[in-house]
Amino acid sequence: MGSTQAYGEASYWDDRYRQESGPFDWYQNYSSLSSLINLYIPRHHRLLVVGCGNSAFSEGLVDDGYEDVVNIDISSVVIEAMQKKYSNHPQLKYIKMDARDLSAFQTGSFEAVIDKGTLDSILCGNNSRQNAANMLEEIHRVLKDKGIYFLITYGAPSYRLHLLRDSCTWTTKLHVIEKLVSSGASNHLKWELNSPVPLGEDGSSVEAALGKNPDVHYIYICTKDDSLTQTAESRSQEVVE
Ligand SMILES: C[S@@+](CC[C@H](N)C(=O)[O-])C[C@H]1O[C@@H](n2cnc3c(N)ncnc32)[C@H](O)[C@@H]1O
Repeated sequence: MGSTQAYGEASYWDDRYRQESGPFDWYQNYSSLSSLINLYIPRHHRLLVVGCGNSAFSEGLVDDGYEDVVNIDISSVVIEAMQKKYSNHPQLKYIKMDARDLSAFQTGSFEAVIDKGTLDSILCGNNSRQNAANMLEEIHRVLKDKGIYFLITYGAPSYRLHLLRDSCTWTTKLHVIEKLVSSGASNHLKWELNSPVPLGEDGSSVEAALGKNPDVHYIYICTKDDSLTQTAESRSQEVVE
């Protein structure tokens, strides 16, 4: 199995976390994104972090005043280590769970779901489209109406928008942040983190705003909107009738 293909497998992550206890944050750390988190997520909201790994991001959330942060990961090795590490943090819960099956949580349990690198990992594995669709549908289900899926990814709009739009009805905004470790390949970006990037149907407006292949991570703010689902359902009902 090729190295990135294994990112969808629990056994790969178990082995990795046995060797590397961390903490390690993929892409970005909490302090670089805190102002954007604060902009969209009030501190009393209940959060779910999917594929938390051994990242210090959730500790950052709690230090910043978030009171109820549930973390899940497919790796039992990392979940056991994190449960031990944060046993004296009542605001942080760690549960071993597959993001494709969140049936342990009732519909509408969370005001926000945070994903940093987990959809990306699932997209590397076998059967990636189906796995990603299952994960997105489950995230949509456990969110309350107007709840937010906060997706931090390396995936540009041309690779992510169709996935997001095909599986569920969201309204989507886009933000970008310069990579912490820049490849040095492209121009220096000057874009305010907290200003949304114009986002058309296919993402072409993003290239107009940022140039080709900007050295950034993308942050998709996807808001669940039950009124859109109802409109879509009544439209398909009309077609049937
Ligand atoms: C790229 S790492 C990101 C870790 C952490 N979010 C961060 O930002 O540092 C991806 C994480 O997703 C987890 N993962 C992969 N597939 C998963 C799944 N189906 N359900 C839950 N977690 C999964 C892995 O165990 C790993 O911890």
